[in-house]
Amino acid sequence: MEPDAETTIARVIAQYRDFLNPGLTRLMQFAGFGDVEACAEGCVITTEGGRQYLDFVGGFGVFNLGHRHPRVVAAVKRQLDRMPLSTRTFFNAQQAELAARLVSVAPEGLQYVFFSNSGAEAVEAALKFARVATGRPGFVSAQGAYHGKTLGALAVTGREKYRTPFEPLMPGVTFVPFNDLDALQRAVTEQTAAVILEPVQGEGGIHVARPGYLSAAGRICRERGALLILDEVQTGMGRTGRLFACEQEGVCPDILTLAKGLGGGVMPIGATLATPAVWEAVFGTNPLLHTSTFGGNPLACAAGIATLEVILEEDLPAKANRRGEQLMTGLRAVQEAYPAIVKEVRGLGLMVGVECTHEDIAGLVVNQLAGYGVIAAYTLNNPCVIRMEPPLVVTEEQIDAAIRAFRASVEGVATLLAELE
Ligand SMILES: Cc1ncc(COP(=O)(O)O)c(C=O)c1O
Repeated sequence: MEPDAETTIARVIAQYRDFLNPGLTRLMQFAGFGDVEACAEGCVITTEGGRQYLDFVGGFGVFNLGHRHPRVVAAVKRQLDRMPLSTRTFFNAQQAELAARLVSVAPEGLQYVFFSNSGAEAVEAALKFARVATGRPGFVSAQGAYHGKTLGALAVTGREKYRTPFEPLMPGVTFVPFNDLDALQRAVTEQTAAVILEPVQGEGGIHVARPGYLSAAGRICRERGALLILDEVQTGMGRTGRLFACEQEGVCPDILTLAKGLGGGVMPIGATLATPAVWEAVFGTNPLLHTSTFGGNPLACAAGIATLEVILEEDLPAKANRRGEQLMTGLRAVQEAYPAIVKEVRGLGLMVGVECTHEDIAGLVVNQLAGYGVIAAYTLNNPCVIRMEPPLVVTEEQIDAAIRAFRASVEGVATLLAELE
């Protein structure tokens, strides 16, 4: 390593320790990520230390188009030279265009868009809109669900570890086991404003909704006068093999949340889409009832417009299906060879989870993978599960390389465990 690089890495890590988060600094170093990212292109990240890594975290759904897709970068640069942020007094063409394009591809019935800057903000808006539209206070969410860490989103996030320190949270939230329709039937009452679900639980450990689950959830909501919110912050924008995962079984939610991949891996953006009935209730008498200063800024919307064009023109959902099949087949072959280490491989499109037999084993595998030049991460609400969410532009050869690295990593962990016995 160049002496300059060594100095840079040491300085950045010390600044993380001294000014950002000492515990996180230790955790990242322990997990094998004691380097500093320098630049990235496509699926490859280059560090200050001069190493190159295949990005199989994909920003947890942010980098669906890979890093620095030229069309998105060009659109953002053009906008930067004209007007990056909005006056919010005049109409803005980029915001209007992205809303129109999103609605044209969104599930039927979704007619209006509210733009924000992150997934949690998109969820906050969804929760507020559901309360106003129904006049009811309650929500039903799923155990293991992840919807963000702001106070409202946290209240519907199904992991006590992140909730308890901040209680009391928003009251009236009931959690049910994911994929359990009987439990959902029992939980939705005349006090329920909305049921909020992810079509594939991401942070909960990559759990795919069973066929029929989401449509039955929609039916239960309609019968009881509650709304269905689908949170596609992570599953959206082509990741699961459809533009939106709910298309898999033709479910049309009342409210849909998007973020992460919508900005094309270049800009942060969040979006909450809903039906005319919801919009009328929220903005009908007060068009300023919910607002965001930076939400819908032209820079982010220019990125969103280019992102939608790329996803549709390059047919990235179909690529996600093909590469996802290839990845899961390869990972399952390793699972069959090492059942004491890998319990299950599951997923949809390129949203893939590898469940290890213990969370410490998952940590060791992630660490080994980094050594072989592939970055992966465990899921926040289920540390036994390693997620693999590479950009949808990942090549066949890159998937093969990651599978080889995974096999070598699991072999390495198996050898280590055998030595300890
Ligand atoms: C399904 C889902 N909803 C909401 C969020 C929160 O998004 P953000 O971290 O941008 O606030 C996430 C983040 O991982 C997510 O996966």
